[in-house]
Amino acid sequence: MIRSKVKTLLGMEPGQEVLAKGWVRTKRGNKEIAFIALNDGSTIQNIQVVVDKTAIDGDLLAKITTGACIAVTGKLVESPGSGQAVEIHASSIELYGECDPVRYPLQKKDTSFEYLRTVAHLRPRTNTFGAVLRLRSQMAFAIHEFFHSKGFVYLNTPLITAADAEGAGNMFQVTTLPLDNVPKDKKGQPDYSKDFFGRRTSLTVSGQLEGELGATALGEIYTFGPTFRAENSNTPRHLAEFWMIEPEMAFYDIKDNMDLAEEFIKSLVKYALDNCFDDVKFLNDKYDDGLIERLRSVIATDFVRLTYTEGIKILQEAEAGGHKFEEHVEWGMDLQSEHERFLVERHFRKPVILTDYPKDIKAFYMKQNDDGKTVRAMDVLFPNIGEIIGGSEREASLEKLNARIDELHMSHRTLEWYLDTRRFGTCPHSGFGLGFERLLLFITGMQNIRDVIPFPRTPKNAEF
Ligand code: 4AD
Ligand code: MG
Repeated sequence: MIRSKVKTLLGMEPGQEVLAKGWVRTKRGNKEIAFIALNDGSTIQNIQVVVDKTAIDGDLLAKITTGACIAVTGKLVESPGSGQAVEIHASSIELYGECDPVRYPLQKKDTSFEYLRTVAHLRPRTNTFGAVLRLRSQMAFAIHEFFHSKGFVYLNTPLITAADAEGAGNMFQVTTLPLDNVPKDKKGQPDYSKDFFGRRTSLTVSGQLEGELGATALGEIYTFGPTFRAENSNTPRHLAEFWMIEPEMAFYDIKDNMDLAEEFIKSLVKYALDNCFDDVKFLNDKYDDGLIERLRSVIATDFVRLTYTEGIKILQEAEAGGHKFEEHVEWGMDLQSEHERFLVERHFRKPVILTDYPKDIKAFYMKQNDDGKTVRAMDVLFPNIGEIIGGSEREASLEKLNARIDELHMSHRTLEWYLDTRRFGTCPHSGFGLGFERLLLFITGMQNIRDVIPFPRTPKNAEF
């Protein structure tokens, strides 16, 4: 007999013989009958297996404990219970794998997220992480579908690179040099000519620079891959390894860029509600009964658009009115999450796109405004998250870009190939980066970014 997934079984007409396979969530019952809740990951729902104890061997049944893996053959019948439409009346059960009830970590009463992070290799078996990981997969598909439908080219950019795209210097070095005996050059510095790539290399912080090469050839591209940042930020919103989606578009100005970002996020939220409602509803009902409403309201509202300078003014007025921020508000500062969230959650109560940031707190590649002080940056700020997207119109002038690289004492040598975009047929263009896990925080309502990626990488944590 062909195995049916639980998701399929729950939608099937009763009366048929079926075969189900999965892991036992719970077993309960009395002397005559046992009820097994079986889950195979295909849906948040379990299928109930009803076992007549005269029909199944007692020793076998005793071994079927929480976490055990079984195959059940039986008849699908209408369920008298209220929880489900159908259930399986087992005629035979095969035990694939026992699960020691004493040692199984998910038996514990402690189901806090902190505890589950210590057993991250098994937490996908819980309802919550099943829901989150299915949503993650669905969102990845929705992202590809969104760009595919607009004719964007999916460009794979390298993970190992010699350039620091954001110029922030927080890169993980990649080397095969022996750390206990590093070859030195004449100046006593590590001799990278002897390293694997013959130069100093790191894991990328962003695919954008290569993305710009793609956009100035293919028109509109997007990347979607892992990025790495060695910043020592132990916050609920930072990972050392996170996934980013970076579209880059020729002939888009900052306004076009904002329009695309807004349409993009809205379409992803809508996709989650339209296609993953079971999982969203589970998370809504269990943890956060405002989740569905928040998702719906984001689709329905226009994002507020204002400049950084206008944003600072609002924050300063709040301070003057008695609101206390941990960090005092001043023009030129990098906004902290408390400031971003004040604008989004208290002042406007909707997503905000802030533009035209001071050039000193933004990356070298952003288009310089005529005021000499600001750049054509845009950050999309979200309720409960803060910054979810960062992007900009790009500086198209070789001269201005070179001047900025000098000002920041960056290396021209590692950027020569990038500067060719401005040498050979430069064009106005724009792009942005969406943090995939930040999006998932919003869509799942989870509070900690470590809980929306299967195996989180954070300072002092790379166990699983
Ligand atoms: O604002 P960021 O640093 O922008 C860039 O990397 C640009 N190259 C993007 C572009 O224009 N193509 O990062 C973009 C987004 C942030 O808005 C945030 O959502 C996410 O990436 N992000 C992180 N997510 C998790 N952990 C971290 N440490 C993150 N750093 C940035
Ligand atoms: Mg940013």
